[in-house]
Amino acid sequence: MKIPRISSEDFLTLGDLTREDIFRLFECSAALKKDVKKGKFEKVLENKTLAMIFEKNSTRTRVSFETGMLQLGGHALFLSSNDIQLGRGETIADTARVLSRYNDGIMIRTFGHDKVVALADYADIPVVNGLTDTYHPCQALADYFTIFEREKDIAKVKVTYIGDGNNVANSLLIGAAILGTDITIACPRKFEPEMAVMEKAYKLAANSYSKIVITNDVDKAVEGADYIYTDVWVSMGQEKDAAKKKKPFLNYQVNMDLLRKTGKDTKVLHCLPAHRGEEITDEVMDGRHSIVFDQAENRLHCQKAVLCALMGR
Ligand code: CP
Ligand code: NVA
Repeated sequence: MKIPRISSEDFLTLGDLTREDIFRLFECSAALKKDVKKGKFEKVLENKTLAMIFEKNSTRTRVSFETGMLQLGGHALFLSSNDIQLGRGETIADTARVLSRYNDGIMIRTFGHDKVVALADYADIPVVNGLTDTYHPCQALADYFTIFEREKDIAKVKVTYIGDGNNVANSLLIGAAILGTDITIACPRKFEPEMAVMEKAYKLAANSYSKIVITNDVDKAVEGADYIYTDVWVSMGQEKDAAKKKKPFLNYQVNMDLLRKTGKDTKVLHCLPAHRGEEITDEVMDGRHSIVFDQAENRLHCQKAVLCALMGR
């Protein structure tokens, strides 16, 4: 297997990667996916270990990283912050230094993005962001791969994200801006992606010619959309805001009426877990437009490509 060459030693945001890096990861993901289907597993990371720190719940991220490491010949350690000393106040810096003496890579899911940055600063081994309050790059990589698999030219596609301007929206925005994909983000007023992320995306888009639109108008946003994407209205750690979000988000549901407004045979993405009946209806989730489970599967293949790129060199 050809190890993909990428320009970064860590994977903290999609902004760590160039367009070429992303395409090299896509190429590797496609090859790894083919191999899995044939039951062929190359032990590229034999005897290597990935420490996985979780400060929030997870199904897909945990299971796909753990399975991926095993398939590559290595091993993943699940470290819930409730169990390790980080949860009792050991510093991120000391945790990074210690894990660097045992392991070959660290994956972390946490709250503040600054914690992941600090971990990467103090670790001597690659660090992968498995979700922070600001970014979810592993998700967006798999999302664009899911689109890439279906399209001749990912730069000729329009993605419309409906809902909360959260970590997933931020990563999709940065990804689109690198890849040249057109992206429209429709959020209720005051729930748009944060300004610093938007500014970064506009800068990147100046090189890739990605058209970025941030709007509050859902109907306009979905016009001509090839892909509609949504995510929960209340992200992990923001449960206290749930009640005040219900009303402003009511018009931001992905349902069949909204899908009919695209004027296209639009496909629907969701990073999952879904709150069925809130941001997406059962009819859409389970209907012919939905590609959410192909998308979830691709987390495995794309993260294996990332692990090979970072830990296989
Ligand atoms: N999409 C995603 O990251 O799912 P988990 O929270 O289950 O890992
Ligand atoms: N925005 C969601 C994504 C979960 C995968 C959250 O942060 O909870």
